[in-house]
Amino acid sequence: MVDHLARDGARAHRPRGNEALDRKVIDKQLMLWRNINHDASQTQAPFSTVMIRRLELDDLHRVSALIRNSLLISTSADYDLEQIGSLAASYSESRLEALATRGLMRVHESAGRVDGVVCLQGERIQALFVSPDRLKRGVGAELIGWAERAAKERGKVCLRVAASLTAVGFYKRMGFIPQRPGRAVGGARVVHMIKAL
Ligand SMILES: CC(C)(COP(=O)(O)OP(=O)(O)OC[C@H]1O[C@@H](n2cnc3c(N)ncnc32)[C@H](O)[C@@H]1OP(=O)(O)O)[C@@H](O)C(=O)NCCC(=O)NCCS
Repeated sequence: MVDHLARDGARAHRPRGNEALDRKVIDKQLMLWRNINHDASQTQAPFSTVMIRRLELDDLHRVSALIRNSLLISTSADYDLEQIGSLAASYSESRLEALATRGLMRVHESAGRVDGVVCLQGERIQALFVSPDRLKRGVGAELIGWAERAAKERGKVCLRVAASLTAVGFYKRMGFIPQRPGRAVGGARVVHMIKAL
């Protein structure tokens, strides 16, 4: 049922018209993003280093850019540019800093490069983003694994998330169950999901 809604939602919000322009914006963002991270990987740790660590103040700029690019590139099939803009605004550097003081914010770092971020607030995943050029390599699963352990250690019995339409399949793979459809900032469709710990 929710699956059906999610697929319909994805179709309903698929950007129409002006697709060439959208593609240009996305390609440009992807190019900028690759350049930023090319620089980063040249100056940092060796390739084998993978870790999940606290978000530091120094990370805010890069993490905010990671989220903007993830929204613009990875979710563009499911949301229109206006919705992506509203979502991106809610992850500005200052909003991220505020989020980090309210919840537990962790970044996934691979070879000195931050390629994923998760925020856990109580039993709720408030943010989960992986760099568009690092998808399907297990980064998201590692961050969810961290969130599960952290929530359990704090006595929580479940994890909840308002999943983007883009991420519903991923969360299902992680053992989450769809509960009901909902709306996020800017009216973006989401699916509320839960996982017992
Ligand atoms: C959702 C997201 C975090 C997943 O990150 P990821 O690093 O690519 O995921 P992983 O590689 O760890 O995937 C783990 C498993 O889920 C599967 N998976 C990943 N994305 C999937 C999707 N969209 N649909 C179905 N399965 C998916 C993987 O194939 C993998 O399966 P396997 O264990 O059989 O190999 C990433 O796609 C993303 O950042 N999306 C855009 C932002 C977003 O929507 N965030 C969620 C906000 S609530």
